[in-house]
Amino acid sequence: MIFKIYTLFPEFFSSPLKSGLMGKAVESGILEFRVIDIREYSEDRFRRCDDYPYGGGSGMVMMPQPLFSALEANEESTGTVLYTSPSGRTFDRDFSRELSGKGEISIICGHYEGVDQRVIERFVTHEVSIGDYVLSGGEYAALVIADAVARLVPGFMGNSQSLVEESFEGDLLEYPQYTRPAEYMGLKVPDLLLQGDHAKITLWRNEKRIEKTRAVRPDLYKKYLTRIILGE
Ligand code: ADE
Repeated sequence: MIFKIYTLFPEFFSSPLKSGLMGKAVESGILEFRVIDIREYSEDRFRRCDDYPYGGGSGMVMMPQPLFSALEANEESTGTVLYTSPSGRTFDRDFSRELSGKGEISIICGHYEGVDQRVIERFVTHEVSIGDYVLSGGEYAALVIADAVARLVPGFMGNSQSLVEESFEGDLLEYPQYTRPAEYMGLKVPDLLLQGDHAKITLWRNEKRIEKTRAVRPDLYKKYLTRIILGE
């Protein structure tokens, strides 16, 4: 899978794309990242990429020219082009699944007060927010999106069972995990997990998932209950 990332700060991506599972996937060729420096496409003699907003208001807006040039040089007309912005649709598991089925995704990292609307209208297929808060730059969001999508690409995760059991599957959060030792600083692992009765363990884990979801994510719990009641 290919990710093309349009950014004013290409250096932002150098360490994350070399680390952990992401680094391994890049090395093995499962993933390819093309980080495109928007500034290189600026025709301004000082390579400026932002300007004051028409109509007034605070902050700066990313100019159309550098982005049009960068996108025209690197995109075909049918691709998926995301634009990271707090005004977009909220990124979630369903959307990460949908994106993981694409061979190629482009992400434009927004900055300042955002990009000129004409860029969005011409090139962007999805404006995406990663949550109801404002980040200092779209690069953070681009990495979150790329990671969530990449880990669904076959071969990225060593153990695909962990994808089946992870949080949100079945609209429930994950059960608590323990590892050795069985007792640490007087704190014990629940007995049941040490006894090897897998049917009981599965039941216990399911109860814990329900308990936790109900306590911390009432919205998700409601979705879970609706699904159970409708027998889906
Ligand atoms: N840029 C600034 N805030 C953002 C957010 N919440 N999601 C995506 N991009 C952003």
